[in-house]
Amino acid sequence: MMELKAFIGLLLLAGLLGKSKTDLKCLWRRSPLESPIFKATMSRSRFQNIISYLRSDDKTTREERKRTDKFAAIREIWSYFQDNLQTFYTSGSNVTIDEQLLGFRGKCPFRQFMPKKPGKYGLKLWLCVDADSHYVFNASPYIGRQPNEQRQTLIGAKVVLELLKPLYGSSRNVTIDNFFTSVPLAKELQTKNLTLVGTLRKNKPQIPIEFQSNKNREVGSSLFGFQDDLTLV
Ligand SMILES: *[C@@H]1O[C@H](CO)[C@@H](O)[C@H](O)[C@H]1NC(C)=O
Ligand SMILES: *[C@@H]1O[C@H](CO)[C@@H](O)[C@H](O)[C@H]1NC(C)=O
Ligand SMILES: *[C@@H]1O[C@H](CO)[C@@H](O)[C@H](O)[C@H]1NC(C)=O
Repeated sequence: MMELKAFIGLLLLAGLLGKSKTDLKCLWRRSPLESPIFKATMSRSRFQNIISYLRSDDKTTREERKRTDKFAAIREIWSYFQDNLQTFYTSGSNVTIDEQLLGFRGKCPFRQFMPKKPGKYGLKLWLCVDADSHYVFNASPYIGRQPNEQRQTLIGAKVVLELLKPLYGSSRNVTIDNFFTSVPLAKELQTKNLTLVGTLRKNKPQIPIEFQSNKNREVGSSLFGFQDDLTLV
């Protein structure tokens, strides 16, 4: 156990030093430019052994679980991780939700290609983040359609509702972009005492015709619309 904790400590240290993608050979190099902690903690070959043998689930039952969950190999440890994120931190009044691509070119059935992101290939995570401190408060992987699952619809709204579950009833304020925002979602969040600020795509049918751009509107002018507790600008 002590050795495993040391191993995890080294992973965290590499991240802290901004070297999570650095070749292990460099991290273990005897050089004034590298932290001596890696070498002092364990040998590089021991570290490499652990990293290549480490599993976070029971391999004998994995195939079975994989039939319903592509994320089966790390689902359990991931949910502990999520719980801990929320146990050890109370988010401020403002949170945001968006996607992040973790660069990765290994084999994985839910690896994404996003040409506009640095790195382009990787694992996509949905993150709920404290707007002030940037602490990740909740996170879930985008794994696409699960085996046997119907075509996915309203992904944006589902992601938001799922990530915010721990904050239901907490009067937090949530900011999201046009991938997620819709009027039904805003209303749904109101019933959970959460307020929403979001951008809307201009082609949303929920936007009244008067609010579409037209020749009579002055450039840079604002138009406000109100309905129930919703405001449209
Ligand atoms: C959310 O934002 C509103 C308006 O800015 C503010 O009145 C309210 O206190 C905020 N919620 C929390 C929990 O701070
Ligand atoms: C949350 O956002 C609102 C609106 O931008 C701002 O007035 C308020 O100060 C923010 N709260 C915190 C704790 O940063
Ligand atoms: C929302 O807030 C109101 C007023 O603070 C409270 O009466 C109500 O129980 C809350 N609802 C939920 C779902 O937390």
